[in-house]
Amino acid sequence: MDILVTGGAGYIGSHTVVALIEAGHTPYIVDNYSNSSPAVLDAIRKITGVSVPAFKFDVQDESKLNRLFSRVSFDAVIHFAGLKAVAESVERPLEYYDNNLQSAIVLLRTMRKHYVNRIVFSSSATVYGPKNPVPFTEGMDTCATNPYGWTKVMIEQIIRDVCVAIPDMSAVMLRYFNPVGAHPSGLIGENPNGIPNNLVPYIQKVATGDLPHLNVTGTDYDTPDGTGVRDYLHVVDLAQAHVKAVDYTLGKTGSVEINVGTGKGESVLNMLHAYERACGKTLPYVAAPRRAGDIAECFADTRKAKELLGWEAKLGVDDMCRDSWRFVSQN
Ligand code: NAD
Ligand code: UD1
Repeated sequence: MDILVTGGAGYIGSHTVVALIEAGHTPYIVDNYSNSSPAVLDAIRKITGVSVPAFKFDVQDESKLNRLFSRVSFDAVIHFAGLKAVAESVERPLEYYDNNLQSAIVLLRTMRKHYVNRIVFSSSATVYGPKNPVPFTEGMDTCATNPYGWTKVMIEQIIRDVCVAIPDMSAVMLRYFNPVGAHPSGLIGENPNGIPNNLVPYIQKVATGDLPHLNVTGTDYDTPDGTGVRDYLHVVDLAQAHVKAVDYTLGKTGSVEINVGTGKGESVLNMLHAYERACGKTLPYVAAPRRAGDIAECFADTRKAKELLGWEAKLGVDDMCRDSWRFVSQN
C-alpha cells in the first residue's frame, strides 16, 4: 500500500516507516522537522536500503497537502504529526490546540477530497485521565488534565464524528502507553534536546554523564516500591502495531480505539535498575517530590489489540534499555 506518514521523521514515525517498508508497503513522509531532522532519512535508508520520499512542509498547509494527494494515490494515512510535550502545552496552550487540531482537520478534509478513507491516529493513554482504575480499558470515559491531553481527546472525537458522517471511512486510534527504546541498529531512537521530562530519556542522560542523577518524582505512592508504575513499551513493538492497524482498516468501516501497551506495569526503580544492567554502570538517584498531575499507576488492558489486530508486545524492559543504551552510546 502507498501510505502517507505525517510526522514520519519523528521518534515513533521513523520506526513505523521502517516497519512499513519491511512489511512491503511504500511509505511517504510529510514532516516540518519542528521536532526532528532530515538526517533520519539517511538512517532509514541505511536500515532498509530504501530512500523514502519525504516532503518538508506543515500538515496545516492545505494547498501543499492537496498537491501531494493529487500526485500520489494514497491507500491509507498514519497521522503522527503533532506537538507532544505536556508541560510546554500548559505554557503554550494555543500553539498546541492550533497545531494539533488544525493538522488533524486539514488532513481529514484533504483525505475526504481525495477519497482516501483509512487513517491510523496516534492517541495516548493520557486520555484515560486521573480517575479511572487500572488496567485501562478502551470503554472507559476519557478526559485530560492538560492541553496536550485535550488535543488527543478532541481529535479522537473529531475522527469518530467524521466516521459517522462518511460511512466509507475506517479509523484506528491507537492509545500508546509509554513508548521507549530504539531500533536495534542504533541508528534511530529518541534524543530530546535539553533536560528531558520523561523517565527513560532522563535516565539516558544520567547514563551518559550529561546529568548527575535521576530525580525519582514520588516515592510515597501506593505501589510496591512507592514509585510510579507505568506500562513501558518497546518502540519497535509499537511500530508493528501500526502495520497491523493499517491492515485492519482494509475492508472495515467506522472507528475503533485500541490500547497499545504490554499490560505490565514497571516502577521507576525497576526501570532504573534495568538501565543499570544495560549500561553496566550504577546510576545515582535521589528522592524528589511528586510531579503535579502524576498518577500512581498506569497500565493497559491489552485484550482488544490482541483480538482485533492480532498484536501483542514481544519485547521486555531489558530489550528496551539495551536498545536505548546502544542508540545513545552510538550517537
Ligand atoms: P516526535 O516529536 O518525535 O514526532 C512528531 C513529528 O511530527 C516530528 O518529526 C515533528 O517535526 C512533526 N510535526 C509536528 N507538527 C507538525 C506539523 N504541523 N506538520 C508536519 N510535521 C509536524 O513525537 P513522537 O514521540 O514520535 O510522537 C508521535 C505521535 O505520537 C504524536 O502525535 C504524539 O503526541 C503521540 N504520542 C507519543 C507518545 C510518546 O511518549 N512519545 C505517547 C503517546 C502519544
Ligand atoms: C508522560 C506524559 C503523558 C504521556 C505519557 C506516555 C508527562 C507529564 N506526561 O507521562 O502525557 O501520555 O508520558 O508517553 O510528560 N519520573 C521520574 N523522574 C523523571 C521523570 C519521570 O521519577 O525525571 C517518573 C514519573 O513520576 C512517572 C514515571 O517516571 O512515575 C514515568 O514518567 P514519564 O516518562 O514522564 O511518563 P508518564 O508519567 O506516563
